[in-house]
Amino acid sequence: MTPKPTTLKYFLLSLFLSLPLLLLFLFLFKPTPQNLTTTTTTTNLLKIRPGYTSYESYIQRQLNKTLNPKLRKIWTTRDWDRKIQVFSTFFHLLKKEGLLSNSSKALCIGARVGQEVEALRRVGVEDSVGIDLVPYPPLVVKGDFHHQPFNDATFDFEFSNVFDHALYPEKFVGEIERTLRPGGLCVLHVALDKRADKYSANDLYSVEPLVKLFKESELVRVRKVDGFGLDTEVVFRKKREVIRRS
Ligand SMILES: C[S@@+](CC[C@H](N)C(=O)[O-])C[C@H]1O[C@@H](n2cnc3c(N)ncnc32)[C@H](O)[C@@H]1O
Repeated sequence: MTPKPTTLKYFLLSLFLSLPLLLLFLFLFKPTPQNLTTTTTTTNLLKIRPGYTSYESYIQRQLNKTLNPKLRKIWTTRDWDRKIQVFSTFFHLLKKEGLLSNSSKALCIGARVGQEVEALRRVGVEDSVGIDLVPYPPLVVKGDFHHQPFNDATFDFEFSNVFDHALYPEKFVGEIERTLRPGGLCVLHVALDKRADKYSANDLYSVEPLVKLFKESELVRVRKVDGFGLDTEVVFRKKREVIRRS
């Protein structure tokens, strides 16, 4: 038996009218990830990617790629010199501009096998080290960038091209500001125009959210770069005197 046109009309109408209620229900009762004890900032210009059900699952996802033996072989052979050369060019320019010097104590965050650390050492910044979830001695020591394994005010210079891998951007930046000396410099390479890789934990669409996150620093400059899929270099200087709000 085919439904009468009026019955069908009422059915479709009630379906249409109940749609906002259904959406409201889904919004209010969205499942919250377990074990994520810290709040994550999501704005229109900085979005945390959904889908991480726990901190452990986030770390595991990062490790899956970083520990891949075939990839590690490629990073330490075919890609080794090519990447060091590109990083060296960036660091040379920063030295020419007086933003980095041979006496700087430098940290590279999320350095994987440490090509950026090697590049810093080759341009003369010998006291340089990297951190990553997986160590690669002697260039890279083990450390989570959400909880850097260093004392306050340890470094003069911090470089990172992995901001997009931060599940907690405010912690990522907070740790940089904690371990930088007053007057120290932070250089980030980020992707604003392109989407970063599938292992990213956030998407950034403007420099604005970064400027807000760097509460104890001032913006030095922003310029376009071509750095392994990352298109923008943002430079911050930690203020010499920080007036903490109580
Ligand atoms: C795209 S790779 C960049 C590697 C390196 N900077 C380069 O350009 O060759 C991202 C790196 O960030 C590391 N990483 C991801 N989450 C991390 C965390 N919470 N703490 C420290 N390192 C992390 C990964 O292990 C990986 O080595």
